[in-house]
Amino acid sequence: MQKRATSSATSRLVAMSRALAHAGVTGMAQFDDPVAAELLSPQYRSILRAISLLPLPLRRVLSRATLGGLDLVPLRAAAIDAVWLRAQQQGVRQIVILGAGLDGRAWRLPHLQDVGVWEVDHPATQASKYGRVAHRRSEATLHFVPVDFAHDDLGVALAQAAHDASEPTLWIWEGVAPYLPMVAVQSTLSVVQARSAPGSRIALSYIPATGHNRLVFAALTALVARLGEPFVGLMSTAQVAELLNHAGLLLVADTDAGDWARQGSHRPPQVWVRERLAEAIVSVEFLGGQAPAPNVTK
Ligand SMILES: C[S@@+](CC[C@H](N)C(=O)[O-])C[C@H]1O[C@@H](n2cnc3c(N)ncnc32)[C@H](O)[C@@H]1O
Repeated sequence: MQKRATSSATSRLVAMSRALAHAGVTGMAQFDDPVAAELLSPQYRSILRAISLLPLPLRRVLSRATLGGLDLVPLRAAAIDAVWLRAQQQGVRQIVILGAGLDGRAWRLPHLQDVGVWEVDHPATQASKYGRVAHRRSEATLHFVPVDFAHDDLGVALAQAAHDASEPTLWIWEGVAPYLPMVAVQSTLSVVQARSAPGSRIALSYIPATGHNRLVFAALTALVARLGEPFVGLMSTAQVAELLNHAGLLLVADTDAGDWARQGSHRPPQVWVRERLAEAIVSVEFLGGQAPAPNVTK
């Protein structure tokens, strides 16, 4: 597999979804991501401006026309933000965002004064992000770590970037696994295992191979392949639990978009393409104790 020379197109689509949701083009009651629009390319920003000028009822129609696609991304982001809130309350002060793309958490999450954030992604994708956020100050101590999960040594790169493996970390792996071959997923999880002090946790989103609307999923599969980022890493819930378990991580929850909506008191989305979120913690914490049964919803 060749190294990627251009910035990720799917990261732009996902950031556009968050920017549109911030502008009210979503079935969610509310979604705030004021940084998303700034991270977009000038072209995407013009499209966003035009859509934002539409009256609210038309924006809602547009949202419905995307068959729930504009709900999935912001609901997923909000569900992962909730994982961070729980981790932060338990004293976690490090966040590693694996495949960060145009994620704006380092600028939009509150109370990051004593938090370190490591954004890991392809160098080309990070380069396109630098300029757009240069004017914004993050409260966090922010590190950009250029890594290709399929080629580079993530563990060495994080150590060189001052990530502290003796302190707990929240690992966010959002919307990335479907684009990675299994071997890259496994090697990344082994680094997560090696650098996760007790108290660490991971939020990993993944796309199952089955249960989608066939036509809509075929169209999405064709789109991402055309963008040069094909789905190569679809996984079942059992497979994810097994991968996490193998990496010393104990699954505590595995939820879907309906659950994320309910957690945030939002209207459940129309789901044509399924995506799930696995949350796991370092299992060493339960050695000698009773591990809780995971909350795995259907
Ligand atoms: C769909 S985007 C998601 C971005 C971000 N996590 C979000 O939710 O906004 C997928 C991201 O994974 C990154 N990615 C995919 N394969 C990668 C690899 N082999 N090494 C590093 N990053 C990779 C892409 O560059 C892109 O930023």
